Amino acid sequence: MAQNGDIGIDLGTSNVVIYMKGNGVVFREPSVIAVESETNQIIAFGTEAYRMIGRTPSSISIIRPLAQGEILDFELTAAMLRYYISNVIGKKFFSRPRAIMSVPSGVKEMERKALITSLFDAGLRRTQILDRTIAAALGAQLNFLGSYGSMVADLSAGGTDIAVLSNGIVSVVSSVQMGGDHFDDAIIRYLRKKYNMLIGERTAEQVKITLGGAMRRNPRVTMDVTGRNLISGLPRTISIDSDEIYESLIDNVNDLIESVQAVIEKTPPQLASDILEGGVTLTGGAAALYGLSEAISDVIRIPCRVADDPKDCIVLGCAKVLNDPAGMRHLLSAS
Ligand SMILES: Nc1ncnc2c1ncn2[C@@H]1O[C@H](COP(=O)(O)OP(=O)(O)O)[C@@H](O)[C@H]1O
Ligand SMILES: [Mg+2]
Repeated sequence: MAQNGDIGIDLGTSNVVIYMKGNGVVFREPSVIAVESETNQIIAFGTEAYRMIGRTPSSISIIRPLAQGEILDFELTAAMLRYYISNVIGKKFFSRPRAIMSVPSGVKEMERKALITSLFDAGLRRTQILDRTIAAALGAQLNFLGSYGSMVADLSAGGTDIAVLSNGIVSVVSSVQMGGDHFDDAIIRYLRKKYNMLIGERTAEQVKITLGGAMRRNPRVTMDVTGRNLISGLPRTISIDSDEIYESLIDNVNDLIESVQAVIEKTPPQLASDILEGGVTLTGGAAALYGLSEAISDVIRIPCRVADDPKDCIVLGCAKVLNDPAGMRHLLSAS
């Protein structure tokens, strides 16, 4: 049985979220590190580093060590995770908590093993890896332990993992490079093309959350957006409306919907008919894009809903396995 203090970890490309038995979700910080360029020395992690994006002197680089569903810089990823874990476990170091961790789908087997070793050094007794779509489905309260088929799509910053699960295993899975970061990039490109205005990634994310959508917002919403005019080089503020941002995102949204459809087409007929009935459940931060579930169900004509607390589904799925090791042990990978 899990002990109080044992933890669940969602290592995401955008955020790290940690659950602690006895305390619930106790930690959420961006997967960002500030590094002094010349010496390679780490200056700040998480929120503190995130705040420096776009406003640091050139001697400091702000690094996201994970992106597009992969680890780009293993050393920095491991250092960040060790720092976060030691913050969370604090004085529990000597009792050596156990952990269930979910990592982006593109993290390689060797890197998974190396992360586990690195977390042992940070004070964890044993870390086991839980498949990302299984964690998402458990956290979204889908029941796929029996023969009935369930479908989940986890939309992260770096990409989307789409899976059909039944009998406690993943039956069909697909990982596509379309997630929150791609939406942000589309907004940056659109404003550059239409207004010759360059905005940073933090502004783009804010625009996406306030104005963006997979459907037109009715009534329309407007927002003043400040960027740099590429001709004059000077800062400029323009009023942007939600229809424009909707248009900037259409192609990406359609790609995503096609990917969901492609997974259904690859699903064995019996499971596919379960999905027609039970629908698709969306998890992950980017699932909160305005109108996304409606847009998906309009096109593919099956029910689609966003899970409760979509940002927490992965870590809550890890927590479920932590709390029921006997009943759910078979869901953990062999590692
Ligand atoms: N209300 C929202 N509307 C659209 N996108 C959102 C919203 N809230 C968060 N996001 C996006 O969700 C992504 C982060 O989701 P998260 O699951 O934390 O990522 P990851 O799994 O990659 O760590 C970011 O791209 C962020 O911009
Ligand atoms: Mg996520």
